[in-house]
Amino acid sequence: MPDIDSIVARAEAEFAAAADAAALENAKARYLGKAGELTALLKQLGAAAPEERKRQGAAINDAKARIEAALEARRAGLAEARLNSRLAQEALDVTLPGRGSCRGGLHPITRAWQRVETIFRSIGFEVADGPEIENDWYNFTALNNPENHPARSMQDTFYVDLKDGNGKDGGLPLLLRTHTSPMQVRYARMWAQRHRGASPMPAIKVIAPGRTYRVDSDATHSPMFHQVEGLWIDEDVSFADLKGVYVDFLRRFFESDELQVRFRPSYFPFTEPSAEIDLQFASGPLEGRWLELSGAGQVHPQVVRNFGLDPEKYIGFAFGSGLERLTMLRYGIDDLRLFFDGDLRFLRQFN
Ligand code: PHE
Repeated sequence: MPDIDSIVARAEAEFAAAADAAALENAKARYLGKAGELTALLKQLGAAAPEERKRQGAAINDAKARIEAALEARRAGLAEARLNSRLAQEALDVTLPGRGSCRGGLHPITRAWQRVETIFRSIGFEVADGPEIENDWYNFTALNNPENHPARSMQDTFYVDLKDGNGKDGGLPLLLRTHTSPMQVRYARMWAQRHRGASPMPAIKVIAPGRTYRVDSDATHSPMFHQVEGLWIDEDVSFADLKGVYVDFLRRFFESDELQVRFRPSYFPFTEPSAEIDLQFASGPLEGRWLELSGAGQVHPQVVRNFGLDPEKYIGFAFGSGLERLTMLRYGIDDLRLFFDGDLRFLRQFN
């Protein structure tokens, strides 16, 4: 019978020397495996006398338990060492500066939109919001632009035509609004209703920014674009007030008193007289060129009537400005499609 204690001592020494899990499992096989030293001793037991077999069996089992304990201890030691080295490698350096690249920014159109709201709020205008899918009456008819009127061809749009026959609103065709002007009608009717009987009715002073749609696409037109509508109705609001308010707005929007602004006579069914307001590019590739910013005019009496108000008593002005165009002029941008390409090299310049 070999010296069992020395087998245990060798096993313990080999386990301790095993550098990784694979070396440890190999060492284990040499003692506890099918052909291992302890297993071999157990096999020889059968040849021993009964008394001797009992004594040796107990000693071998005791050795086996000690070797298994040493194995478990080394396994745990190796696992802990592995964990510690991983933790050391993956350590976070919380003193490193953060990565800034994930911060978003506001789109230039959003910035222009917010500027316009701030300026008009500061002179007492409310900000209103309304549907982009509009019915034919608000978008055209109520604005003195009845069916078959040639002025409708100025604003070709997209019609909503649902196959189940739901593409109509109370019998009226539904469409993507071609301008924010239907908001004049929606807001003024709401206002007239709310102040019914009040004399005098408080003035209507509102802007309505939002998305608009037309069948149009080139460097200064996009099928989806943004407008901001303005409406001021009271007992004595004149075209001179339009000029004063609008030019003052432009000076504040562009932070300049040196603007070249032009009011050109024009035609809209819902204003009379009507004008188009142009502004000259002060910088950028289009420097010196004029760009139409806005339609505007004195609200037509028929439209005031459609507001539910008496045109003999109430009068005022409206304008509808292109937000993309305001932004193009502010930054000297020559192509409006850049706003919708999603090119970060362009968009990052505004943040
Ligand atoms: N709605 C007109 C357009 O989009 C602009 C406009 C608004 C004109 C208000 C006059 C008054 O072309």
